[in-house]
Amino acid sequence: MAIVKLTVNGRAVSGDCEERTLLVHFIREKLGLTGTHVGCDTTQCGACVVHMDGKSVKSCSVLAVQASGSTVTTIEGLASDGELHPVQAAFKEHHGLQCGFCTPGMVMTAVDMISRHGGDLDEKTVRHELDGNICRCTGYHNIVKAVLSANEQMNGAANQAAE
Ligand code: FES
Ligand code: FES
Repeated sequence: MAIVKLTVNGRAVSGDCEERTLLVHFIREKLGLTGTHVGCDTTQCGACVVHMDGKSVKSCSVLAVQASGSTVTTIEGLASDGELHPVQAAFKEHHGLQCGFCTPGMVMTAVDMISRHGGDLDEKTVRHELDGNICRCTGYHNIVKAVLSANEQMNGAANQAAE
């Protein structure tokens, strides 16, 4: 058994687990944060994406012990003061989901993508970077629309604040 210590959604947490425990299972089973999904066993689907030290990772491809000491944000940590994160709001507004299974991973990937590109994001890049997130329902069109809309909103607001 190993002890894993993390900061998750701003809260210090710790727990024991087997050395082979994946971060996604630690998050879901030890911490009860079931918004992070498991959609495959081949690290292909992206339903399990969280942010680790600010970068998106597939939490099924990281051991919980490897993540120990890091800061993790899950889908539950995005909204603040009862307000959806702009990416979540854009998915809602543009109907970027149907069954919703892939949505937490899509949203976490999109938040990281938008912050890395700092406003310089086009459809081709969004489609390319969503390559590791599989949606079986939507055909991707509205997901891409939602990401581009959130990018515009977030970077438009940042640009206005800087003026
Ligand atoms: S559960 Fe992690 S990529 Fe599918
Ligand atoms: S909305 Fe159903 S898998 Fe994407």
